[in-house]
Amino acid sequence: MINIAMPKGRLGDQVYKLFSSIGYRCSSMSSDSRKLVFEDPSCGVRYFLIKPFDVGIYVERGVADVGVIGKDVLMETKPKVYELLDLGFGCCELTVSALNDYQDDFESVLRVATKYPNITRQYYQDQNREIEIIRLNGSIELAPILGLSDVIVDIVETGSTLRENHLKICEHIATSSARLIANMKSFQFNQSEIHNMTESIIEMMQQ
Ligand code: PRP
Repeated sequence: MINIAMPKGRLGDQVYKLFSSIGYRCSSMSSDSRKLVFEDPSCGVRYFLIKPFDVGIYVERGVADVGVIGKDVLMETKPKVYELLDLGFGCCELTVSALNDYQDDFESVLRVATKYPNITRQYYQDQNREIEIIRLNGSIELAPILGLSDVIVDIVETGSTLRENHLKICEHIATSSARLIANMKSFQFNQSEIHNMTESIIEMMQQ
């Protein structure tokens, strides 16, 4: 049985489509269920539905053998896992954004709202800029609108959330996409299955 940590939400459907296309089908899997564990013994697979920021923890601790995680979350949470493959979907940009009419005075302490405190701290440290991090869990775009922060550090995919809330991209920090990761011990002891999985995904991506 191989245990796969699947991110709930925007990446989830694409991840399941990919894994089922290479043989890891799970007939009981249904997106409108509240269940968090799905397994199909005939295909030798068990899926866990996990909040994207927690995928790394489950894989690092070996509860899941492999998982899919955005590069943005991987950079932020830095789990001790092997990063095996760029899956080429879930592409987005990690950016600094602000209200359309925002102008930085480069003197005051910058108030930055984000769910990426580690990346944010490092980014501004490299620029020698003093900041105050306001740690939020979602709907980050609300912070500058309500005056809670000057800017936000967040992902932009289609750009609709920024546009519809009158925000603009100010700086680019990094590019992200979905990555296949593996637990270090599972990779060692289950090398052939994880290797075959990776090869099948690469073949699938080339079609
Ligand atoms: C993410 C991100 C932005 C939005 C960007 O939020 O934090 O808010 O998607 O996507 P777009 O450029 O396609 O509009 P998510 O939908 O994951 O929900 P959250 O706000 O609860 O974190």
